[in-house]
Amino acid sequence: MSVILQANGINRIFQVGKTQVHALKDINMSIREAKLTMLRGRSGSGKTTLMNILGALDKPTSGDVLLRDKSIVNISEAKRDKIRRNEIGFVFQSVALISNMSAYENVEFGLRVAGVSGSERRERAEECLRLVGLGKRMTHRPHELSGGEQQRVAIARAIAHKPTVIFADEPTAELDTLMGLQVLSLFRTLTEDKKLTIVMTTHDPNMMELADHVYTLEDGEIIDER
Ligand SMILES: Nc1ncnc2c1ncn2[C@@H]1O[C@H](COP(=O)(O)OP(=O)(O)OP(=O)(O)O)[C@@H](O)[C@H]1O
Ligand SMILES: [Mg+2]
Repeated sequence: MSVILQANGINRIFQVGKTQVHALKDINMSIREAKLTMLRGRSGSGKTTLMNILGALDKPTSGDVLLRDKSIVNISEAKRDKIRRNEIGFVFQSVALISNMSAYENVEFGLRVAGVSGSERRERAEECLRLVGLGKRMTHRPHELSGGEQQRVAIARAIAHKPTVIFADEPTAELDTLMGLQVLSLFRTLTEDKKLTIVMTTHDPNMMELADHVYTLEDGEIIDER
């Protein structure tokens, strides 16, 4: 079983006025390739902070993150930017689709930003929307889609540029159980068939049963791993 992403002694301290918030304390973890890893823990335990660091959106105060054995922390901003664009996909909790664009245009626009050529954009956007089960909803705008469908458009957009690792922050929080399970079954397909690595946060015990690995955070520390 190969490790794709490794956190070594991660600390993250936020300075708020005169006080310091020690949001992550000596985090060590190994994310396995083509597996579904979940982070759980109370509000404020550090889940989002950790994903932002693993996904190169934020830097730790100390410690290192290795992607395929290479640091993504101690490198130039230009290189970090390239990693974010090519290797990482983010699905945020508040979906953040562009409201006056169709599902297809939302996914295609993401590829345009990533610099993918025109004909390939069309092919990949359609392929990814079909993959998330929205082949018949491509021309719908976000307000013409259910919450679960919107979340799946966001997932299609996150996978369209073929990232290595996808981070999803509470992707099922605003969905009912059935829609949440649909998103999770899509994640299982993506890890098993497409060999994508997925890291997500959740509060929902129903979802945790579907994980390959679950890390529990408390006050910025990993207190359980299974
Ligand atoms: N930019 C910031 N500046 C200062 N403190 C921050 C910042 N971001 C997060 N924190 C603090 O760090 C801690 C961890 O926050 P984080 O957002 O990672 O928690 P979380 O586990 O994602 O919570 P939730 O389940 O509510 O999303 C919290 O105490 C929070 O107040
Ligand atoms: Mg959070």
